[in-house]
Amino acid sequence: MTDAESSAQVGAIRRLHIERLVAGGDGMARDADGRVVFVESVAAGEHVDAEFVEVKRDFARARVVSVVAPSMERVQPPCRHVVDGCGGCNWQHIATTAQHDAKVEIVREAFARTARLPEVPVTRGGSVGHDALRTTVRMAVTADGRLGFRRGASHEVVNIESCLVMHPRIAELVETAGVRVGKDAHGTPEVSLRCGDATGERGVWSHDRARLLGLPDDVVTGAGAVVHEEVAGVRLRVSMESFFQASRQAAELLVDAVSRAADGCLDGSEGPVIDAYGGVGLFSATLVPIDVQAILVESSKAACDDAYANLRGHTADIVQSRFEQWKPQSAGLVIADPARSGLGKAAVSVIAHTDAPRVVLVSCDPVAAARDARLLVDAGYSPDAVEVLDLFPHTHHVEVVSTFRR
Ligand SMILES: C[S@@+](CC[C@H](N)C(=O)[O-])C[C@H]1O[C@@H](n2cnc3c(N)ncnc32)[C@H](O)[C@@H]1O
Repeated sequence: MTDAESSAQVGAIRRLHIERLVAGGDGMARDADGRVVFVESVAAGEHVDAEFVEVKRDFARARVVSVVAPSMERVQPPCRHVVDGCGGCNWQHIATTAQHDAKVEIVREAFARTARLPEVPVTRGGSVGHDALRTTVRMAVTADGRLGFRRGASHEVVNIESCLVMHPRIAELVETAGVRVGKDAHGTPEVSLRCGDATGERGVWSHDRARLLGLPDDVVTGAGAVVHEEVAGVRLRVSMESFFQASRQAAELLVDAVSRAADGCLDGSEGPVIDAYGGVGLFSATLVPIDVQAILVESSKAACDDAYANLRGHTADIVQSRFEQWKPQSAGLVIADPARSGLGKAAVSVIAHTDAPRVVLVSCDPVAAARDARLLVDAGYSPDAVEVLDLFPHTHHVEVVSTFRR
């Protein structure tokens, strides 16, 4: 085989040089025709033989057949289920120290290319460390009625007996509980498991007609079941249905990063604090002094109900609404933590109409972060700093905290 063979088609095996890792976690190479090729389970700098599994005019996808010249950063995945095909942790083949650096590079690239803001400093923020264990997981039911995670790029479910990144309070349930699936269940049933690291409370929510059997008495069940967590010394109520950060350490680190980014704007002297996409009130409850006006805007009823409980005693309004449809009011600070797709034009326009002198944007997708940064710049904001946190070790997932002023 030569590097120069061209006209790749599905099934062809070619030698590729992985230039860098990209958003989504794949490596990027170019074939002999100059076409971009995305290759999964690789590290930057490697030479691999890869089989093309999809070929389009502008790009192709390939899977590794053999690693010809491995990167110094390649390691044996520490979890045996990754070897079985579990797609839950797609970066376990990269040394732990190199994972965070790679995430910073991906965000830098997104701010330079997508946001057209190459001058903005993108820095490495904190990492939860590789022993911060997930307190919320969503699992699927295998064909033989056990729990597992999806195979990479597939709907197939790989049974999991032990998980490197799962909190032991829920891992115990995965090990011991049986699953009964109702006859009228459609597709692959899914189950969410959650625990509080500080409280030890735990819950299970079956999204479809799957029931976990033999659960210990302490486990609460159903969409409305509640567990409590403690972050920055504040006790928070979190319903099974509400969003919550991946682990207690992740929440602590994010609260700290947002606090630094919002420095000087949390005391209300410039106006109220808008906690956009506020969830159960993580930022309002831990960062906004109780006598400072906070306005939490959140679309989920379950999360708003939790926020009511978590912000009792605070000077806070909780508005159940899509943020894009909320009527903007004057503010001193907007903290916006949207879902993976980001803010988009409509939400950026709402932020701009608050006239807030400071915006702290929390993004869980590097390209969405960069797209929103460009929209905020076009709306009159200047980017100040971008910090890349590693809250999801062993995966490509990234958390970006960006600060803007005007
Ligand atoms: C990434 S979570 C952040 C929650 C909270 N800031 C936290 O850290 O726990 C995004 C939240 O936005 C909510 N959400 C999604 N789309 C929304 C929209 N269009 N308007 C308002 N809230 C939305 C979700 O229900 C979820 O609670």
